[in-house]
Amino acid sequence: MKTILTAVALAAFGASAAFAQTVGFSQIGSESGWRAAETTLTKQQAEERGIILKFSDAQQKQENQIAAIRSFIAQGVDAILLAPVVATGWDSVLKEAKEAEIPVILLDRQVNSDKSLYLTAVGSDLVHEGEVAGQWLVDHVAGKECRVVELQGTTGSSPAIDRKTGFQNAIAGHDNIEIVRSQTGDFTRAQGKEVMESFLQAEGGGQNICALYAHNDDMAVGAIQAIKEAGLKPGEDILIVSIDAVPDIFKAIAAGEANATVELTPNMAGPAFDVLKAYMDDGTTPPKFIQTESKLYTRADDPEGEYERRKNLGY
Ligand code: AHR
Repeated sequence: MKTILTAVALAAFGASAAFAQTVGFSQIGSESGWRAAETTLTKQQAEERGIILKFSDAQQKQENQIAAIRSFIAQGVDAILLAPVVATGWDSVLKEAKEAEIPVILLDRQVNSDKSLYLTAVGSDLVHEGEVAGQWLVDHVAGKECRVVELQGTTGSSPAIDRKTGFQNAIAGHDNIEIVRSQTGDFTRAQGKEVMESFLQAEGGGQNICALYAHNDDMAVGAIQAIKEAGLKPGEDILIVSIDAVPDIFKAIAAGEANATVELTPNMAGPAFDVLKAYMDDGTTPPKFIQTESKLYTRADDPEGEYERRKNLGY
């Protein structure tokens, strides 16, 4: 009797009584250390739960992600995890997944589609991350004039949009701080270095730059290299604040070459699989947003220890 009742309740949500056996994961690519760690942890979390994970690397291209989702639908997976490279352009494929009654969970980035088209989104408050980074700078310079250069993430991605907004929110009303240059480095080390080189050249060899705000640590690490090659001391001559908390930024903080980072956990899959299980077990509908923490780390927070704790986590 209980089985029949449960099946009736689940039918109302379009969920099935058995836990997800097969889950498709459309990953953006491997642009950063953080992304590599998210991939590793998602595979581990699936294995621990006995889930068959069908993994697809989109090589940074939305069209590849859309093709992967369509292929997951055709294969009849039980659920889909999607880390969306950009925020727009998902409506059609999300509608197709919904029509096929396959729940989609967004990981780490947001989409501009209607919320009814996905089950939930696991991620940080991306605006808040930018605010935490900006507030660190406001406090650190304490009223001193500060010309900031900004390395943005992938154009059109929700972290690039929101982390920019958050930082601007934090420095608003602090006329001593000004963003003088801002350009995308596409979340990669190589582009972070390249764009920082052009910033340095345009700003008196770096003499006119007080701080770098990078939307992720990998771009900051690339920029650190460029600053050193320009004969300046990163972390001293140019302050550096970024986001992710990957092992290499802790190495840089420990060496005095970076100043602060805001943590983004790469374990988005754990909470995603937990809510998916509850949803498929008895139809429990999760909240539309499951928020992860955004903690600030500086030199005062044992960077050597943080490096040791993270170095084998797949970053
Ligand atoms: O969406 C999260 C961002 O994407 C991470 O901060 C960055 O490193 C990544 O590639």
